[in-house]
Amino acid sequence: MATPHIEAKIGEIAETILLPGDPLRAKAIADHYLSDVVQFNHVRNMLGYTGLYKGKRVSVMGTGMGMPSMAIYSYELIQVYGVKNLIRIGTAGALQENLKLHDIVVAQAASTDSNFGKQYGLDGEIAAIPDFQLLLNALKEAEALGLKYHVGTVLSSDVFYHIDKDNWRKWQKTGALCIEMEAYALFLNAAYLGAAALAINTISDSLVTGEQLSQEERQNSYADIMKVAMGLV
Ligand code: HPA
Repeated sequence: MATPHIEAKIGEIAETILLPGDPLRAKAIADHYLSDVVQFNHVRNMLGYTGLYKGKRVSVMGTGMGMPSMAIYSYELIQVYGVKNLIRIGTAGALQENLKLHDIVVAQAASTDSNFGKQYGLDGEIAAIPDFQLLLNALKEAEALGLKYHVGTVLSSDVFYHIDKDNWRKWQKTGALCIEMEAYALFLNAAYLGAAALAINTISDSLVTGEQLSQEERQNSYADIMKVAMGLV
């Protein structure tokens, strides 16, 4: 059985999946890190692969950018394919001065400007948090690798090009460490559907200083969060 967006057969996707936004990043990860690779998806070019990493079965697939796209893929992965651990690996923009390019931010919670959570019809707000065990293990892994990391709230935003150029400053005041566009929807889907999720980000730009990584520098930063994520498999 396939879904509208994933053509894999049941059983072709591993219990743990790494989720970069860019499907070509998923391909590069499969090419460089996995053995015995099988491609399970190419619908909409949202490439997905399952293979072995140090003998353990793991999948990797793109999610596209933004919460609607992340929500579609994470929902189908959990609900239809029974995926248990979903680990987003992505880039984020720093909202605080002490966050430098290449730093790692492991999300402890996600705030949002999205209405995604309204679908549950609750008389309040649902908390968007990662799985505690995955979070703990990621921190141990980063520690063991000697990588510099931060843990805190991320802002999952629906807007990349905000009309109000200073809008992010209000979120800076809430203590959010960085801005990205997917974690909130991933955390809510995982919580509601009974899976574990985590979001590991590398800082690719700073809204505070205006600096940003080149494409090549992004690759290197990605390698660091990849190592942390692979340690969770
Ligand atoms: N905004 C939103 N998402 C991002 C950014 C940003 O500045 N950088 C990387 N992902």
